[in-house]
Amino acid sequence: MAQVNIMTHPLIKHKIGIIRRKETGNRDFRELVSEIASLMCYEATKDLPLEKVEIETPICKAVVEEIRGKKLAIVPILRAGLGMVDGMLDMIPAAKVGHVGMQRDEETHEPVEYYFKIPDDISQREVFVVDPMLATGGSAVDAISMLKKRGAKKIIFMCIIAAPEGVERLKSEHPDVNIYIGALDEKLNENKYIVPGLGDAGDRIFGTK
Ligand code: PRP
Ligand code: URA
Repeated sequence: MAQVNIMTHPLIKHKIGIIRRKETGNRDFRELVSEIASLMCYEATKDLPLEKVEIETPICKAVVEEIRGKKLAIVPILRAGLGMVDGMLDMIPAAKVGHVGMQRDEETHEPVEYYFKIPDDISQREVFVVDPMLATGGSAVDAISMLKKRGAKKIIFMCIIAAPEGVERLKSEHPDVNIYIGALDEKLNENKYIVPGLGDAGDRIFGTK
């Protein structure tokens, strides 16, 4: 059964409060999304397996702990997921990055795929799928299904704002995927936007509206 982890750290809550404000401009919005992604990455990687390694300090030999294997991948769901990539890479610079392009149809609200490029060895990597918004869950569910078809086995989904409808759908269609959520909101409106939410994350990151 999927674990659902909702962030409680005051820094994450504070920054999410700022990106929700309608007066927050594109530049601040982008910077804060990236910072929130870094802080959430810290939480979402807390169970990565460690191994003991012998090294030499300038003083003597010592046994230290390092992340075992270090095979990680970050997969943003385009476009808005791109806003979380740099913040994630600040924490895990050796990760490979794949891209899944999904666009919600404005009438049906169903996701339509337009791009898919991921590392060849995805089956050997722990994959962090990132998207600021989990609304109906359609985009995340389809992106994860595509990754599984291409061999991804261990997948974690991270979003900044989620609606209960999206969380339920993701849990039921991909029960093996643990979910990290910055804030769990109240509901979706008639246009399938998250309430209270923050509006259109892609437009606010890239300044397209
Ligand atoms: C937004 C968002 C998610 C999706 C969430 O992307 O970034 O990918 O909607 O909605 P869902 O859970 O109902 O599928 P959008 O399709 O607007 O594209 P964009 O990132 O290019 O703006
Ligand atoms: N996509 C967004 O960017 N915002 C929402 O509230 C829902 C989907």
